[in-house]
Amino acid sequence: MIKIIILAAGKGTRMNSNLPKVLHKIYDKTMVEMVVDQCLNITPNIIAIIGHQHDLVEKTLSKYETVKCILQEEQLGTGHAVKQAYDEINDEDTVVIINADMPLINSDVIKTIIKQKEEEKAQGIIVSSIFEEKLPYGRIIKDQNNRLLQIVEDKECTKEQLEIKEVNIGLYCFDGNHLKMALNKLEKSNNKEIYITDVPYYINEQNGSVLVYKDLNNIIYQGINTKDELNYITKKMFNQVIDKHIKNGVYFIDRENTYIGSNVTIGTDTTIYPNVNLIENTTIGNNCIIHSNSTIINSQIENNVIIESSKIDNSIIKNNTLIGPYSNIRPNSIIGNDVKIGSFVEVKNSQINDGTFVSHLSYVGDCQVGEKVEIAAGAVVCNMDIHYNKHKTVIKNNAFIGANCTLIAPLTVGENSIVAAATTVTKDVDDKAFVISRTDIVTKDNYNK
Ligand code: UD1
Ligand code: MG
Repeated sequence: MIKIIILAAGKGTRMNSNLPKVLHKIYDKTMVEMVVDQCLNITPNIIAIIGHQHDLVEKTLSKYETVKCILQEEQLGTGHAVKQAYDEINDEDTVVIINADMPLINSDVIKTIIKQKEEEKAQGIIVSSIFEEKLPYGRIIKDQNNRLLQIVEDKECTKEQLEIKEVNIGLYCFDGNHLKMALNKLEKSNNKEIYITDVPYYINEQNGSVLVYKDLNNIIYQGINTKDELNYITKKMFNQVIDKHIKNGVYFIDRENTYIGSNVTIGTDTTIYPNVNLIENTTIGNNCIIHSNSTIINSQIENNVIIESSKIDNSIIKNNTLIGPYSNIRPNSIIGNDVKIGSFVEVKNSQINDGTFVSHLSYVGDCQVGEKVEIAAGAVVCNMDIHYNKHKTVIKNNAFIGANCTLIAPLTVGENSIVAAATTVTKDVDDKAFVISRTDIVTKDNYNK
């Protein structure tokens, strides 16, 4: 059985943060989730070693049914971390071990090393790469026949070893029985930490062989230890994601200044202006235009939609609809086809059906709005009472709500009805009714101040 152990217990001292390192986000997704999502493409049998602020990490991972968290009470090194999962490892298992601070890793590499190890009947395989700049990574020490002898950590390297360019990137695969044998032998290096990187040495000692899979595509392997590296990797992620969308026919006016999360999908011939944020599981259809300063979070946008400088959060926008400029579509809203939500309109937890116009300066909360309704400027739905209870408003098809109306929920406004401008509606409006509540204007002639 293939099992994957994810090392996520470290504090990440070099991040200088109150948050555990693995909960830092690559824009919209934590490092540990990025790694788990890739591992799930290989196997559901995942063990996460957690330690520093483990309750927070465990909470983040609780959404994954098959990820088992094991506590490493004291963080005594990566080898000590793997030892915590000792009882989970069977002799015949194939065990992948991966650092959780390597968020751009993809499952193809993991598949490749598992396959190569199997084909060459080796007891283990590790991944190496070469980086231009000198990073404090473990160096790969090989013999004359190019076989791996051991991995030496940066701080324990001799001057000569420090010159070695090939480094360990923190992704390993071992046979269960050989791994367990080596775990039993691991000792503290420099009297401080127990290193997983010593496992190949002990397997070699027993005449086993550990292969090295050298991959020069180093960007996917870069570990994150500082906030500067977090920023560097986040930019690389944007770059990868935007490359993918361009291949699918999306047009970016300024790709350097566009921010798109790794789970977003975008349809062909959609144009994205600069300073747009597309976050989490957002999907955008074909032929849309997303103008500058728009933020779309976990929402579904269908085809031919135009969004101008607006925020859309956990909502659905259907075909041919126009949102903005400066609209705020709050969670649980469904905006239908051919709708116009205009400037400075806020919508919350509401369904607005096809062909309806809410063009300017209105608030629509907890509403069910029918088709072809016209809500004029400055209409406000009062959905909350003084006890903070929310009430529902239903506005049926073809109703007309004049400018500056106040609708006091709970309320139903009937089909084809007209609510005259500046009316305060306190009771249901019948179908086809005309309602007006307006104090007569008083005109005083020749009135002096
Ligand atoms: C590690 C490797 C190094 C490699 C580098 C690649 C070791 C000893 N060194 O160094 O050879 O070049 O990754 O990025 O493994 N962790 C635990 N428990 C602990 C300590 C760490 O779970 O007690 C976790 C961390 O949360 C992290 C991962 O293990 O996700 C790696 O630890 P980190 O301290 O970042 O190791 P590096 O110094 O980067
Ligand atoms: Mg690291």
